[in-house]
Amino acid sequence: MLPGEFKSVAVLGAGKIGLAFVKQLLQNSSLRVYATGRRSETLKSAEALGAVALRDNNLAVRESDLVVIAVKPFHFPQLLSEVKAENWEGKIVVSLMAGVKLETLRVALPGAQVFRAMPNLNTYVGSSSTAVAENGYDEASRGVEEFLKIFGKVYWVPEEYLDIWTGLAGSGPAFIAEIADAMALGAVAAGMPRELSYEAVLDVLEGTARLLRSKLYLHPGQLRDAVTTPAGTTIRGLMVLESGGVKAVLMRMVEEASKRSREIGEEINTKILEKVKQK
Ligand SMILES: NC(=O)c1ccc[n+]([C@@H]2O[C@H](COP(=O)([O-])OP(=O)(O)OC[C@H]3O[C@@H](n4cnc5c(N)ncnc54)[C@H](OP(=O)(O)O)[C@@H]3O)[C@@H](O)[C@H]2O)c1
Repeated sequence: MLPGEFKSVAVLGAGKIGLAFVKQLLQNSSLRVYATGRRSETLKSAEALGAVALRDNNLAVRESDLVVIAVKPFHFPQLLSEVKAENWEGKIVVSLMAGVKLETLRVALPGAQVFRAMPNLNTYVGSSSTAVAENGYDEASRGVEEFLKIFGKVYWVPEEYLDIWTGLAGSGPAFIAEIADAMALGAVAAGMPRELSYEAVLDVLEGTARLLRSKLYLHPGQLRDAVTTPAGTTIRGLMVLESGGVKAVLMRMVEEASKRSREIGEEINTKILEKVKQK
């Protein structure tokens, strides 16, 4: 299917990331959006955004050109049992599930052109950093890229990077939120009100990302040195940071999160393939 030819999208699993997709699609595209869930609260939330909310995954898949799978990986076997195999035929399917490999998706979704993507919750404001695994499709890839750009930036990467991407950019908003919270609390400890402290941290985060992207400083270390006056305030703070081993902690944070994504993959792919055999 050529870019721009999609008419309808199904988001299977209107949870946190699923609803963020639904919201952006309804605000920034003319696509008809189906969203599924099992609980009435899930369906109500999707309906409130303007989606056609359905309990029936089979119907949602049948009615759509492009299908986004946004259930947890361990809920995928159940979802598979709900959709008739022939309904995947000819569909473009974008899986957001951590750890579920392309080769597993190809076996599980016969006749579909499958894509594996890893966005993050910044999708909600159209600022996702989404990685998509390279898979050799041509026309469909262009369409999927155009589709994913509705939610933010898109990077094609070898599939082997997706677990690392999950630990860095997928989990990233949670990590950055913790760091922002800690810095704001530091300002509260020093005597400034919470709300003002928090606003200042958010400004610093946004501004620093823009400054680093401007390439005025080629490396984060150069920016650090530019702010660090001898015997000044920044070097005092940096001494505390270094004495806490924070840099090593943050490096391990991303490495461990990536490892966990790989572990989930090891646990779930076999289970999914067993389920497909039973079908
Ligand atoms: N959250 C993130 O930041 C993020 C980022 C990138 C990728 N992902 C991936 O996206 C997926 C969803 O993550 P999430 O954080 O959005 O989880 P979540 O909030 O738990 O959402 C999953 C949704 O799936 C629905 N669901 C479960 N089984 C279903 C079924 N058989 N049919 C229809 N709906 C079903 C659940 O709704 P009911 O309770 O109503 O069934 C739930 O709302 C995961 O695979 C995750 O790896 C998440």
